[in-house]
Amino acid sequence: MLVGASVLSADFSNLKNDLDSMLHSGIDFWHLDIMDGYFVPNFTFGLDIINHVPSILPLQIHFMVQDPTIIYKLFRENLTIKLAKCEFIFHVENAPSVNLIELINLVKSDGHKVGLAINPSSMVNLLDEYIHMVDSILIMSVNPGFSGQKFISGVLSKIDYIKSIRNDIKIGLDGGVNNQTVGLVNSKNVDFIVSGSYLFSSNKRLEAVSSLKS
Ligand code: DX5
Ligand code: ZN
Repeated sequence: MLVGASVLSADFSNLKNDLDSMLHSGIDFWHLDIMDGYFVPNFTFGLDIINHVPSILPLQIHFMVQDPTIIYKLFRENLTIKLAKCEFIFHVENAPSVNLIELINLVKSDGHKVGLAINPSSMVNLLDEYIHMVDSILIMSVNPGFSGQKFISGVLSKIDYIKSIRNDIKIGLDGGVNNQTVGLVNSKNVDFIVSGSYLFSSNKRLEAVSSLKS
């Protein structure tokens, strides 16, 4: 199982050192939460931070915004990191006001990976019409907006449904994953997990990352 570190939980007053230390702790990718204060009740960062993340590792950019199309277009023009290493994840709840099919096709034509995230309270069959178009599904195991929330184990039941429709799709979990809750995830068919507060609050990061992998 691959492990991504959610930069939202990093120490922004010491960002370079904090990310460098995480980079050398065995994580597989960076996860970057883009929030606009509308789609979720919180606001995060933009290109100024993303362009400083050590892009030696792949970037997974998770959009929790009202208008992902306009922000994606802004990003594609202004990202200075190697774009080929990016995966863009949008929320299925953005439809129908956002044309997700058009957006997914745009991201794919730019040569990036693309995934869809689904909130804990959303019906899993919202994904049906997109499942064959995307590389991954990110199942939210907390309500999006903040790090440090409790893992919602009920979302795990979405996994079998998604895999029954398309067995080779990558499935990830985002939110509340730590050395305790990872046990619930291990018994399931999960390809990657995202962890923020657990990894960044640890002062033994190599051990923290390996506790999520074993
Ligand atoms: C929640 C974000 C998550 C969050 C994970 O809205 O999408 O990526 O940063 O943080 P933890 O692991 O602390 O729940
Ligand atoms: Zn996220």
